[in-house]
Amino acid sequence: MKAALIGSIVLGLLPYATAAPSAPNPNDLTLALAERALPNAPDKYTPANTTCPSTRPKIRSAEKLSSQETSWLKTRREKTLSAMKDFFGHVQVGDFDVTGYLDQHSKNTSNLPNIGIAVSGGGYRALTNGAGAVKAFDSRTENSTAKGHLGGLLQSATYISGLSGGSWLLGSIYINNFTTISDLQTHKAGSVWQFGNSILEGPDTGGIQIFDSASYFKDLADAVNGKKDAGFDTSITDIWGRALSYQMFNASDGGISYTWSSIAETSEFKDGNMPLPVVVADGRNPHELVVGSNSTVYEFNPWEFGTFDPTVYGFAPLEFLGSRFVGGSLPNDAKCVRGFDNAGFIIGTSSTLFNQFLLQINTTSLPSFVKDVFTNVLYKLDKSDNDIAAYDPNPFYKYNEDSSPYAQQTELDLVDGGEDLQNVPLHPLIQPERHVDVIFAVDSSADTENSWPNGTALVATYERSLNRTGIANGTNFPAIPDQNTFVNQGLNSRPSFFGCDSSNLTGPAPLIVYLPNSPYSAYSNVTTFTLSYDNKKRDDVILNGYEVATMANSTRDSDWSACVGCAILSRSFDRTKTSPPDICNKCFSRYCWNGTTDTSKPPAYAPKTILADSAAAAFVPTALSAVVAAAVALFAVA
Ligand SMILES: *[C@@H]1O[C@H](CO)[C@@H](O)[C@H](O)[C@H]1NC(C)=O
Ligand SMILES: *[C@@H]1O[C@H](CO)[C@@H](O)[C@H](O)[C@H]1NC(C)=O
Ligand SMILES: *[C@@H]1O[C@H](CO)[C@@H](O)[C@H](O)[C@H]1NC(C)=O
Ligand SMILES: *[C@@H]1O[C@H](CO)[C@@H](O)[C@H](O)[C@H]1NC(C)=O
Ligand SMILES: *[C@@H]1O[C@H](CO)[C@@H](O)[C@H](O)[C@H]1NC(C)=O
Ligand SMILES: *[C@@H]1O[C@H](CO)[C@@H](O)[C@H](O)[C@H]1NC(C)=O
Ligand SMILES: *[C@@H]1O[C@H](CO)[C@@H](O)[C@H](O)[C@H]1NC(C)=O
Ligand SMILES: *[C@@H]1O[C@H](CO)[C@@H](O)[C@H](O)[C@H]1NC(C)=O
Ligand SMILES: *[C@@H]1O[C@H](CO)[C@@H](O)[C@H](O)[C@H]1NC(C)=O
Ligand SMILES: *[C@@H]1O[C@H](CO)[C@@H](O)[C@H](O)[C@H]1NC(C)=O
Ligand SMILES: *[C@@H]1O[C@H](CO)[C@@H](O)[C@H](O)[C@H]1NC(C)=O
Ligand SMILES: *[C@@H]1O[C@H](CO)[C@@H](O)[C@H](O)[C@H]1NC(C)=O
Repeated sequence: MKAALIGSIVLGLLPYATAAPSAPNPNDLTLALAERALPNAPDKYTPANTTCPSTRPKIRSAEKLSSQETSWLKTRREKTLSAMKDFFGHVQVGDFDVTGYLDQHSKNTSNLPNIGIAVSGGGYRALTNGAGAVKAFDSRTENSTAKGHLGGLLQSATYISGLSGGSWLLGSIYINNFTTISDLQTHKAGSVWQFGNSILEGPDTGGIQIFDSASYFKDLADAVNGKKDAGFDTSITDIWGRALSYQMFNASDGGISYTWSSIAETSEFKDGNMPLPVVVADGRNPHELVVGSNSTVYEFNPWEFGTFDPTVYGFAPLEFLGSRFVGGSLPNDAKCVRGFDNAGFIIGTSSTLFNQFLLQINTTSLPSFVKDVFTNVLYKLDKSDNDIAAYDPNPFYKYNEDSSPYAQQTELDLVDGGEDLQNVPLHPLIQPERHVDVIFAVDSSADTENSWPNGTALVATYERSLNRTGIANGTNFPAIPDQNTFVNQGLNSRPSFFGCDSSNLTGPAPLIVYLPNSPYSAYSNVTTFTLSYDNKKRDDVILNGYEVATMANSTRDSDWSACVGCAILSRSFDRTKTSPPDICNKCFSRYCWNGTTDTSKPPAYAPKTILADSAAAAFVPTALSAVVAAAVALFAVA
């Protein structure tokens, strides 16, 4: 089964998709004019041998940031300074003159606030609740710069990280030219973010998606077979990532030729007009099925794939993933492979927990020949029984042999970024080299029986940071209490701050602004394995996420936007020895965890909507998703 049919349909639509497998020609008109993430893969989904650049790609040590990130930060920090001035133009911090303060310290960028945003996993719930937060933080959202709102925080941020469902959000935004949530909330059939059809059924026809279900599955199969035929290991994650792409990427043919590394090639990104997007996945240790707290945490940023953890402690150039690196370099006879870092494969890797959905094909009402085609593909995969993403060749083969448990493996197995329970992707943002001051941690985890978060993700990151001579490798994290305390003290029912007192830390660490999913205008605790949301439910959860981040536009606490301002400025105040204005002390006594615990077992956590109950519709999943959810829940989560 070759991609002839589909290929002929898209011929001409994607100028780059059919280009000869060679390094991109900088004089090529299509490349020069393109301003969004680029469909620059040499052969669509199939990684291809290309001519190596004059300096052959290699693996580098993780002791510093990449030279690309370091130079990009200079451009970005200029942009965040002006964005922060805009932000504090509408967010008042008592009568403190924030703009004057920023101006006064603008000569030394390292004194200025450095902001990160982290969006957790949790399937479509995390995607939509996370989207609500991003919508609230985005100055381009209508009314988001009104009093009590938080528009401009996204523009002020240096970094944004996502894992699993949170990585789908990042992919949707970045592969679609840093689009807005308002624009993704379309109601057009055949467009992106139509979750009324489950991913098993494929997109509605119309709009940019020209396929019926049968050709949708044929397309998924052809793409993955192409990769397999070229000699690459394939796993269920390949199909999963292709399927996700149809829902997340607003491009014909499910954006098949878009790579994650192409984000770095776009002019808007190069100009520092958006935060640095980082996707997280976990490593699974050789011969282990359970992913523990000491597993290696990897990141995909637009330039590189790798980890700061002491195990591998290295980064590979993302564009050349799929090349056969040995001991950190590319042997003379090895080709430079490009196109392995397909954007859908990256977000599929971060969300392998959901792979098993695909095995539920028989519960759909699709015609049986479609089911047969699909089952066939599934069983032809090299790793059909295995809910991993296979990264073969392992870029870290024979690299750091003394410390890396993966050094003797030709294949690297990656899994869902939340499998180590660190379901909020804080890891990239607590690396000391990045000097992040404050992290807005958007948590859509389903920890409790009612699918609300209870701090488990923060506890996991905190505990990992205590292994100071081991896996923590120089990272620090504020003290976090146990989950019973979270529930007993209400730390998960409203925003809470951790690590407010920078003198009570094991080393430099950001202040954490924890934003737990909670019901304001809607019950946003949809179960993780609900596969389909109609547009109303999608929009209800997004609006609820907006209310969570803004505390209902500061109607729940009229000081909330000021308190967010204080959290942003706190570490900067420490560095410049500025005493915070009174309003900040008031905020800190209200939102900072005070170090006390209450470890008694709390009653069941069942919050009611904070805003008028009439607006809060409970969600009844459709029949299909209920069946699938029940089936998947049985074996997908340990
Ligand atoms: C991408 O977004 C920027 C900023 O909004 C815009 O100037 C540019 O035209 C967009 N590019 C494409 C290809 O849509
Ligand atoms: C923005 O605010 C105006 C004035 O309050 C209101 O009429 C409009 O509906 C708001 N728009 C949105 C998208 O909330
Ligand atoms: C790429 O080159 C290698 C040898 O370096 C070869 O084994 C492989 O088949 C080539 N792949 C493709 C898709 O041409
Ligand atoms: C992780 O910890 C377990 C024991 O808790 C140990 O067996 C395993 O070797 C450790 N893995 C690594 C990579 O350190
Ligand atoms: C982190 O791990 C690397 C590799 O094992 C080691 O060289 C480095 O010293 C460690 N850094 C810290 C701060 O412990
Ligand atoms: C679907 O059902 C058919 C017929 O019973 C079976 O052969 C096939 O293995 C099933 N497919 C999956 C993915 O379970
Ligand atoms: C918190 O979540 C964890 C993980 O799901 C669960 O085991 C624990 O019982 C929960 N505790 C409370 C108090 O909600
Ligand atoms: C600390 O991390 C090291 C590997 O980095 C691991 O071998 C060890 O088991 C960890 N200790 C604990 C208590 O988890
Ligand atoms: C700390 O916070 C808890 C929960 O809000 C409260 O009950 C307690 O009185 C506070 N303790 C101090 C010393 O402020
Ligand atoms: C908060 O603002 C959003 C967006 O402007 C609006 O839709 C929503 O109704 C507001 N909520 C409250 C409680 O004012
Ligand atoms: C201060 O640090 C100690 C030691 O890490 C910790 O036990 C305590 O909870 C911290 N206090 C706060 C408020 O974070
Ligand atoms: C959502 O939470 C409410 C209580 O806060 C609970 O009554 C409801 O059953 C939960 N829904 C799901 C799908 O867990």
